[in-house]
Amino acid sequence: MTKTKTKSKSKSETKTPTKKRAIAESIGFLSAFLRSPGSVGAVLPSSRYLSRALVGRLDLQPGELIVEYGPGTGPVTAVIKQLLPTGAKYLGIELEPRFHDLLTRRYPDLDFELGSAADVIAVLRQRHLPRPTRIVSGLPFASLPPKVQDAVIDGIADCLRGGHGDFRTFQYVHAYGLKAARRFRALMAERFESFERVGPVIRNVPPAFVLRYWGVK
Ligand SMILES: C[S@@+](CC[C@H](N)C(=O)[O-])C[C@H]1O[C@@H](n2cnc3c(N)ncnc32)[C@H](O)[C@@H]1O
Repeated sequence: MTKTKTKSKSKSETKTPTKKRAIAESIGFLSAFLRSPGSVGAVLPSSRYLSRALVGRLDLQPGELIVEYGPGTGPVTAVIKQLLPTGAKYLGIELEPRFHDLLTRRYPDLDFELGSAADVIAVLRQRHLPRPTRIVSGLPFASLPPKVQDAVIDGIADCLRGGHGDFRTFQYVHAYGLKAARRFRALMAERFESFERVGPVIRNVPPAFVLRYWGVK
């Protein structure tokens, strides 16, 4: 019997496609930002450090749902997918068609809605999904118009009311004091009993705080 030696790939060979993909993604993300700065709200996708801090532990029971708002190119989605317990469900809601297209190709076993997080209740109804236990958000609240902020906050409270779940988002340190960012936190404080701020996570460009809310009033 002849032994065929399979040439193992060198480190640089295995790293190149990932690096190339990351660069292509960063360029795609930047051009999406230049087209729609207000709704994209960032020049780069979140780092894996921020993504991990945002998701934290994923204590979901079979049948429970996690919804991700604004998955973008999917760095947070990758962490959720890794931690998602068997039988738990995931839905991503993304407004930008190019990101939605990329997400459905990259994560064919996860579900993504092309639309606005402000319409979460209608989306869940249409897809016959339960209210989520967890909502993880990448939405740029500091640059969203007040009407959209209000509708998204109403949806979050409607989803989590009466349950044991929580809502998590991040805010960039440099934008934390902006009027729209403060407005978002003030409105959330009116709706939720409990709040926790983690960080800043400095291994992200730019550094960001993770905010967690639970217990709808
Ligand atoms: C700051 S980026 C975050 C992307 C990704 N989660 C990350 O951390 O790299 C904001 C994302 O929210 C999306 N977005 C903005 N407004 C939205 C809305 N109303 N509903 C759903 N997605 C929205 C943008 O298209 C973009 O993908």
